Amino acid sequence: MTSAHQGLTGLLDTEAIRKDFPLLDRTVHDGKKIVYLDSAATSQKPRQVLDALNAYYERHNANVHRGVYTVAEEATALYEGARDKIAAFINAPSRNEVIFTKNASESLNLVANMLGWAEEPYRVDHETEIAITEMEHHSNIVPWQLLSQRTGAKLKWFGLTDDGRLDLSNIEEVITEKTKIVSFTLVSNLLGTQNPVETIVRRAQEVGALVCIDASQAAPHQVLDVQALQADFVAFTGHKMCGPTGIGVLWGRQELLEDLPPFLGGGEMIETVSMHSSTYAPAPHKFEAGTPPIAQAVGLGAAVDYLSAIGMENIARHEHAITEYAVRRLQEVPDLRIIGPTTAEDRGAAISFTLGDIHPHDVGQVLDEQGIAVRVGHHCARPVCLRYGIPATTRASFYLYSTPAEVDALVEGLEHVRNFFA
Ligand code: ALA
Repeated sequence: MTSAHQGLTGLLDTEAIRKDFPLLDRTVHDGKKIVYLDSAATSQKPRQVLDALNAYYERHNANVHRGVYTVAEEATALYEGARDKIAAFINAPSRNEVIFTKNASESLNLVANMLGWAEEPYRVDHETEIAITEMEHHSNIVPWQLLSQRTGAKLKWFGLTDDGRLDLSNIEEVITEKTKIVSFTLVSNLLGTQNPVETIVRRAQEVGALVCIDASQAAPHQVLDVQALQADFVAFTGHKMCGPTGIGVLWGRQELLEDLPPFLGGGEMIETVSMHSSTYAPAPHKFEAGTPPIAQAVGLGAAVDYLSAIGMENIARHEHAITEYAVRRLQEVPDLRIIGPTTAEDRGAAISFTLGDIHPHDVGQVLDEQGIAVRVGHHCARPVCLRYGIPATTRASFYLYSTPAEVDALVEGLEHVRNFFA
């Protein structure tokens, strides 16, 4: 720790934590130690998760809910045990409200399709409206565009303020008596903005609209309590929270999951099938057709154990300190413009910026040569770039293993980029 880091409080013991993450130890480009600043795209995985995946495949691999033999029962217990862990992690009132999907995109598409096939009182048609925001990831825009094209429902959205927050000044025009669903991100993956859930949920409840929250950039970083959020659906993905790829979660309120129709049909989601019709299993199985991502769910269960042992409050405190430091240091870099909130208040640990007129792809490439991994592009949130009149950004994002020294490395790296293109 250097003198510049004095005064940073709430940091985790990253020296110990980093030992759990094998990839953080590797080098690139002839021995340059990797500085991994792309956790908003996907986090690194601790040894505990890798071990759980291996143990599953080496000792317990079988299909779930089907076999009567010992290993199959173990696989089922591990898969359903992971559901229990996730239910506890998000404070779900019931384990049956936790649906395993492939990723957050699938979770959000599932909600849109449940509603697309629903009868009254959930039916979405040409007389109804859907509300989203301009800061959504494409996965929370395109499913609603598809639903709106299919049903004739009108798609509306909240715009953005110049400092990267939601403009809620016209909330009564965006969420109206016709609105059937309001879907928005808890934390923006590009801007880092943390959104005011309460205000939006209150208005949605006033008009009887359902609320769906994309918590992909929140679940890895802060306490996620689905009851406190008062939403109807909450979607997130495993691979951003130390889990494997190929596993996502949709939490939904039990009575909605009972009432709404399934989207994918197939094995395990049924009660009975004849050649004329079928009846469905209760939730969550009604929404989990086919062989599910068993190993991935087990891995996500191990990830949740890992995060819980460190404590989500502690992780949030650590990231807040790192983000505050990063926001301050980045603003010292000449010509650097943060796209999004320029303070650490009400924001997550993903910071997007432009650097003069140097294209973000060039920034990313020169940083990579120094071992620094950032994401560049529109981050699957192109409307945000259009709003701020930029083609793309460079984004640095932090997690429980990030250190102030890595922020310093980024700032030095950016100086190098500037000199390179001077
Ligand atoms: N949604 C991920 C990101 O923001 C991929 O990078």
